[in-house]
Amino acid sequence: MGASAFIFDLDGVIVDTAKYHYLAWKKLANELGFEFTKEQNELFKGVSRKRCLEILLDIGGITATQEQFDRWMVEKNEDYLEYIEKMDASEILLDVPKVIGFLKDRNIPIALGSASKNARPILEKVKLLPSFDAIVDGNDVSKAKPDPEVFLIAARKLNVAPENCVVFEDAVAGIQAANNADMISIGIGDAQILSEADYNFNDFTEMSLAFLESLTSVQA
Ligand code: BG6
Ligand code: MG
Repeated sequence: MGASAFIFDLDGVIVDTAKYHYLAWKKLANELGFEFTKEQNELFKGVSRKRCLEILLDIGGITATQEQFDRWMVEKNEDYLEYIEKMDASEILLDVPKVIGFLKDRNIPIALGSASKNARPILEKVKLLPSFDAIVDGNDVSKAKPDPEVFLIAARKLNVAPENCVVFEDAVAGIQAANNADMISIGIGDAQILSEADYNFNDFTEMSLAFLESLTSVQA
């Protein structure tokens, strides 16, 4: 039996929200008196908000009290929410609708598997919420990627065995989570960075429908 369910990461796969996360973290870093570069922001992909702040404070050499830590978490998210406030369907990444449309036409269930606690409002803004048969996000998990929890919950919600699920991911930790879940992992982004993926594409424009067809009909 071939792949019978597909799980999408959100940030960097469906929408390019990494740039808004970056702006919000950079603002906080600047307020705290240090720089935060786009290269350093790469480390934040797929990583929970809490872990991101820990890494940011390490970069700045800052030791925070629990009260400061909690306040900066809130502050970063409030700034992020301002940046994403005006997001709309025009920010869906190229050819994502092509892939979702292909799967919907064949009644293949799709789920979201994201570390973000803001996943639902973002899907609502870009009008993709109704397309998903299941949503698993940062509010539903206790263990962060590369732990497979987020994808295993998604598979369970779709009632599909993990080995019959395909995961689209742009983060190293996300590819590792998919591999740890025993799912087929597809890296969206730099193939050198995502070298642990089963398949690699720079973006969805490079992914043919014939390729998707081959995944769904492969004999396991
Ligand atoms: C992931 C992003 O999808 O979600 C990370 O790649 C981000 O950069 C994480 O930190 C948590 O997002 P949020 O929206 O809950 O702060
Ligand atoms: Mg991502």
